[in-house]
Amino acid sequence: MATSVSIARVLGEEVLDSRGNPTVQVTVVLDDGSLSRAAVPSGASTGGSEALELRDGDQHRYAGKGVTKAVRHVNELIAPALTGLPADDQWRIDATLIELDGTDFKSRLGSNATLGVSLACARVAAQVCHLPLFRYLGGDHAHVLPVPMLNVLNGGSHGNGGPDLQEFMLVPLGAPTFREALRYGVETYHTLRELLVEHHAPTNLGDEGGFVPMLSSNEAALGMLMQAIERAGYRPGEDIALAIDFAAAGLWHDGQYRLDLEGRSLSAAEMIGLCRDWSVRYPLVSVEDPLMDNDWDNYAELTRELGNAMQIAGDDLFVSNRSFLVKGIAQRCCNCVIIKPNQVGTVTETLNTARMALSAGYSCLVAHRSGETEDTSIADLAVALNCGQIKAGAPARGERVAKYNRLLTIEGSLGAAARYAGRDAFRPRR
Ligand code: PGA
Ligand code: ZN
Repeated sequence: MATSVSIARVLGEEVLDSRGNPTVQVTVVLDDGSLSRAAVPSGASTGGSEALELRDGDQHRYAGKGVTKAVRHVNELIAPALTGLPADDQWRIDATLIELDGTDFKSRLGSNATLGVSLACARVAAQVCHLPLFRYLGGDHAHVLPVPMLNVLNGGSHGNGGPDLQEFMLVPLGAPTFREALRYGVETYHTLRELLVEHHAPTNLGDEGGFVPMLSSNEAALGMLMQAIERAGYRPGEDIALAIDFAAAGLWHDGQYRLDLEGRSLSAAEMIGLCRDWSVRYPLVSVEDPLMDNDWDNYAELTRELGNAMQIAGDDLFVSNRSFLVKGIAQRCCNCVIIKPNQVGTVTETLNTARMALSAGYSCLVAHRSGETEDTSIADLAVALNCGQIKAGAPARGERVAKYNRLLTIEGSLGAAARYAGRDAFRPRR
């Protein structure tokens, strides 16, 4: 597949993400005139060991959130280093970025600078190879459409006034195709809105497009989803299951997990108990970050206890980083890794972590960030990995829907070769 086309120009610029915060967009031009661009997302409940998202810190611009330094790194440091390299040598492009940065967590260049460049190179290389991005990254075998995990109730740092727990997701695993799965999820999302209107509850949306209901308890969110699924004509567990991202680091106060809504605090053992209890009473197939991201021992305990019954996903625990995953595999923590390219900063490192996870029997859940752009690369990434799971928010707000629309297009283009992951994506693996 080698092409002789090489990189002619790399141009960074400051654009805006879905929260109106600055982010990095990169355009790469090849010497045959081909051009593509990529934009970088940004998290709000970030893991402590994520690669550095470089912000200016100049309080006179965007309250310190400007990214002109990262953009300058793209234009003045990265562009000269990449000019002339073959566009389709992603490994060499990323190795050059890693070497130029020279730190473990992209602290010199910024992961927003490196990922923007890495992703834009992959996109333009796919174009000159006449391949869709998922095929360019995943090869001939990329054909599995992921289960969309739709975050329809937002809380925590993504939804002020909502539940303490960050994400309550619909998981339409019983559908026959991705297109049908999305329809199941969308119809249930609209039914949920009807329920809120009936209860005279606000229908404002959180950062990921889900509703931000005022509830008496976190468990009440699960009850609402069950009600919406049934009212929409689906069978909970059979057609649509549930998933939660606790984002537990955001609950951590004085050595305990504080649930403000319920006026109580839980220990790690009680958090594990809560997962156990809910896994029995609800069709809960996945829990993400139910514990602090440095509590490896309790993650091992939780995985021992519940890992056969459900997916236990590490986001802040692994931060998509291969070295943390190595530790997790050795200590048998979790059975799923959240994959977010901007947590590590290059396409190659993202693929390496995901492939290591899959070969160790972990599942991978490819994920957006709460601050997103119209860039749809993660949709292609999920198909490239054949990993069977993606979370890209509620089916609302353009930057969320763009990912789901891209998956509809991919499914259509694959025709008979497309396979929807469905329930298989959640078979316990270890
Ligand atoms: P973030 O949240 O993008 O705000 O970090 C998403 C998540 O925790 O999965
Ligand atoms: Zn998370």
